[in-house]
Amino acid sequence: MFSYQFSETHEMIRQTSREFAQSEIAPSAIERDEHSQFPKEIVKKMGELGFMGMMVSPKYGGSGLDAVSYVIAMEEISKVDASCGVIMSVNNSLVCWGLETFGTPEQKEKYLKPLATGEKLGAFCLSEPEAGSDATHQHTSAKQDGDHWVIDGMKNWITNGTSADIYLVFAQTDREKRHKGITCFIVERTSPGFEPGKKEDKLGIRSSDTCSIALSGVRVHQDDILGGIGTGFKIAMESLNGGRIGIAAQALGIAQGAFERAVAYSKERVAFGKPISELQAIQFKLADMSVKTEAARLLTLKAAVLKDNHENYVKEAAMAKLSASKAAVEVALEAIQVHGGYGYVREYQVERMLRDAKITEIYEGTSEIQHIVISRELLKNM
Ligand code: CAA
Repeated sequence: MFSYQFSETHEMIRQTSREFAQSEIAPSAIERDEHSQFPKEIVKKMGELGFMGMMVSPKYGGSGLDAVSYVIAMEEISKVDASCGVIMSVNNSLVCWGLETFGTPEQKEKYLKPLATGEKLGAFCLSEPEAGSDATHQHTSAKQDGDHWVIDGMKNWITNGTSADIYLVFAQTDREKRHKGITCFIVERTSPGFEPGKKEDKLGIRSSDTCSIALSGVRVHQDDILGGIGTGFKIAMESLNGGRIGIAAQALGIAQGAFERAVAYSKERVAFGKPISELQAIQFKLADMSVKTEAARLLTLKAAVLKDNHENYVKEAAMAKLSASKAAVEVALEAIQVHGGYGYVREYQVERMLRDAKITEIYEGTSEIQHIVISRELLKNM
């Protein structure tokens, strides 16, 4: 059953994350986008404020908050800069969550604590040159050698790839068993043979850092296997369910940011003798933009509430991501139209929002994959 009401804590998170985003992230967003600069100092501050391990227990250095709080903070941060949003999302949903859920007490102490406090940064290495949507077809392999495992292969599209310290790497340990032969390894960046490649020159989220990673003969002690041999694919899929709530919230932030900019501009810009917000052509656009954004917000919150209530949220997370990513692209595109020629130049920021929005329809499962997940869940349960 879905119902929610924001608590005082939620309102406080909104206010803190909004103030932080406006004062610390917004001023340098255009410049970081232009020069593809990773926001190292901002990420450090996000860690100090508790944004890097929002749902992790305070026992392991986290903020011990719920998924609704996470959605609120992700929206506020992504509203001004979606690059900061994805850095935060990957660390929270794809790395900290898996370590807390499947890790041993020693792994939590050693790896989760510094990740949750923001002292270290995490990355999630599932995709490969020939295994994107088709994630069960992992080519990267790990072979046992005494009490170590030796990993060889190539990972692609790794967010936080050149900047992270701790990586969750998925590899085949028993090819015969298909996805049940995939294992998750915790790998430190300093491991010999672990080589992040050059940063990708991307259309959007340019200040986040994406790269390929080559692994040649990387030795990992068996104590650094996360969750047991052969459980890697389950860890990846379950982490991605939560990750999709994070990306939905990121997309929601982009849509909300573009919408607010369009409203503000329409009230300032005068044409035909009045602010363009008084023209029906613009009013109808704003109405559509707000409906799309609000629908995405409700689906995202629904998925977060189900997660907080420990109910099945697989379908709702996929629906939230599908809907919010579509809203982000459409709302950002319309925001440019409302701005006219000004929307096409960097200073007005809505062109960056459109560029940033597109990836939300691709990473953490493309829109086509979300359709698969939703329809399978629907048919299973009806
Ligand atoms: N939640 C939990 N389990 C799931 C699941 C989900 N959402 N989706 C699939 N599974 C389980 C299935 O139940 C099955 O388990 P059992 O055999 O135990 O029943 C297992 O996974 C394999 O599923 P299928 O047999 O259905 O395999 P498939 O190949 O037909 O479909 C898929 C699998 C759903 C397409 C999956 O490969 C998938 O989700 N692909 C998308 C991968 C993805 O999202 N990649 C994002 C990369 S990470 C990224 O972008 C991070 C970044 O840096 C930003």
